[in-house]
Amino acid sequence: APQPCTLVIFGGGGDLTRRKLLPAVYNQALEGELPANFAVLGLSIEKMDDVKYREFARKGIEQFSRKPLDKAFWGDFEKRFHYLQGSFDNPEFYVQLKQRLDEIDSQFSIPGNHVFYLAIPPALIETCVCQLKAAGLVMPVDDNSPFSRIIVEKPIGRDLASAHKINATLCSNFDEQQIYRIDHYLGKETVQNILAMRFSNVIFEPLWNSRYIDHVQITVAEEEGVGTRAGYYDTAGALRDMIQNHILQLLSLIAMEPPWSMDADVIRDHRQNVLNCLRAITPENFDQHVVRAQYGAGFHHGEDVPGYRREAGVSQDSTTETYVALKVFIDNWRWAGVPFYIRTGKRMPKRTSEIAIQFKSVPPILFNSNHDQPLEPNVLALSIQPNEGLSLRIATKLPGTKLRVFPVKMDFRYGSTFGEQSPEAYERLLLDVMAGDATLFMRRDAVESSWAWVDNILNIWASSRTRWLPEYSAGTWGPLEADRLIESDNRQWRLL
Ligand code: BG6
Repeated sequence: APQPCTLVIFGGGGDLTRRKLLPAVYNQALEGELPANFAVLGLSIEKMDDVKYREFARKGIEQFSRKPLDKAFWGDFEKRFHYLQGSFDNPEFYVQLKQRLDEIDSQFSIPGNHVFYLAIPPALIETCVCQLKAAGLVMPVDDNSPFSRIIVEKPIGRDLASAHKINATLCSNFDEQQIYRIDHYLGKETVQNILAMRFSNVIFEPLWNSRYIDHVQITVAEEEGVGTRAGYYDTAGALRDMIQNHILQLLSLIAMEPPWSMDADVIRDHRQNVLNCLRAITPENFDQHVVRAQYGAGFHHGEDVPGYRREAGVSQDSTTETYVALKVFIDNWRWAGVPFYIRTGKRMPKRTSEIAIQFKSVPPILFNSNHDQPLEPNVLALSIQPNEGLSLRIATKLPGTKLRVFPVKMDFRYGSTFGEQSPEAYERLLLDVMAGDATLFMRRDAVESSWAWVDNILNIWASSRTRWLPEYSAGTWGPLEADRLIESDNRQWRLL
């Protein structure tokens, strides 16, 4: 269960805090899931006081919370929100922080347990971590001390070397058990359902291998363009922003071997084994495995939208990719020869994320394409968002006097079955940290081996002499090159 604690947010006046973290805290408080002894302390450079901070929190909640603001509840709950202004590289600030935490902890009877959330640009991580330690704010891991836990947001580095450096600093100031590297995709309801579905049903696991599965498609499509995040995004791109973390984690969950317990390290070992088996992308196999592209101007939902290089804050000759398609192999016994096709991009026709497992076709003996409809293979599609659920395509007899076979869908939707909106990823993940459960967080090895794999691609791009990047019009499903990538294997991207 979540333990009493103070949540200390570095970057407490920022966008992530306003849109995700404070609404998450509020929703969980409203549902009675937060510990009774709980407080929030926001930290940032901006001038604010407790009263202003509570207003900032309320506005964020009004705008972004899953549940509407309950005024009576908030009137009482807001007293738990506090603010401290200062500069994160100033040792004096940490003296004040310690003092403030003592006051808050005693006011709310919190036994000195602290969760430090680093919702800050990566360049500041190392400073904050070292200063926390120097100020004596990191407790040892033992049963008699209050806990100190730290949550680190992505991006953790921009390649293996920088990630390694950040991790080294983290690990020399905190114990690995105290470190929670967040990947919010792991907190999504439907992503957690991958484990439940695979390992609490008897009918899927026996088929979950190269004997029965033809291929897997993972799509994470976003409608939005780069928005106001060009400062970060233009130095990152889709491979770093989405594939290195979220999508490789999805892939690990889909492909991992059955774990023998739900213990955090058992699950993480199993996810890690998948990453260890990813076939390396090399200059020799690169062209058959990797496509990148950037969105150009287009017509999107009834309006003209600019191309990526015309977006505010993006350099006019930027070669940052906003779309990536990959063909990935997992070289182990279970997945030998099964391609995993992955695509992700901004400015796609709609926001939709799914994982589709396409099974092999039955032998064309009894029913085949001589009938009106070609026999379509079974597909299990896990819809991650927005319309969470899963569907299984099966073939069935068309009613009538002739024996004709037709594909139908067995469909389960969270919304219609369970009614209520699922909690947001951040709600679940914050509670997990308070409870000390790191299952849904990235261990150091996962972050670094993902970077090692991604670095191969980044290096090939960096050394390529052509600066030309394929373009796709905003509002379309990506470049022709991506179609060719899959069509050259006689397969097609799913129509979503
Ligand atoms: C973030 C990326 O990690 O995930 C963003 O930095 C992206 O670029 C976002 O838009 C997508 O998250 P979600 O939950 O909206 O699918």
